[in-house]
Amino acid sequence: MITRFMILSLLFLIVTLSTEARAQGKWGGGGAKSKWSSINPKDSAGQAEGNYQLHCAQCHGVNGDGKGDLAAVLGVPPRNHTDASVMSTRTDDDIFKVISEGGPAMGFDSAMPPHKTVMSEQEIKALVKYIRKLCDCKYVGK
Ligand code: HEC
Repeated sequence: MITRFMILSLLFLIVTLSTEARAQGKWGGGGAKSKWSSINPKDSAGQAEGNYQLHCAQCHGVNGDGKGDLAAVLGVPPRNHTDASVMSTRTDDDIFKVISEGGPAMGFDSAMPPHKTVMSEQEIKALVKYIRKLCDCKYVGK
């Protein structure tokens, strides 16, 4: 005897299975290479890139070019971290301080938030290095 309950259970099973299959196609198997697959969270470079994407890219852009999604709604444009002509006039300490304590600590706009409560000193140091990679520059003087 086929009861109403059995039909409902079967429907539920079909929906569950197809949702799962779709999810797997999207995140696993599927052959689509995830953007994150090249990032090793254990080394500090990988950690910095992950942190940059998580905490900074919404404003500074996924490539650090200052064109993040929030850039358009901020009164002040987020710095283009790939611009060596500007970033080479900043010391590592300057960059560390602005990330850690926020824009106003270095005379910049408060749209640049402080991060010392969400990241460790090591993580922020790794981000300084990561920004040096983005600009492909080092401090050459003010
Ligand atoms: C809510 C948007 C926002 C987020 C999130 C954000 N920033 Fe900024 N950031 C800004 C803005 C806007 C400025 C420019 C302020 C100015 O010019 O007065 C700035 C400036 C900076 C500067 C100073 C650049 C210079 O000229 O010396 C650094 C370094 C920086 N951000 C790094 C980061 C890092 C690293 C993160 C992530 C941990 C981050 N920012 C997250 C908006 C943001």
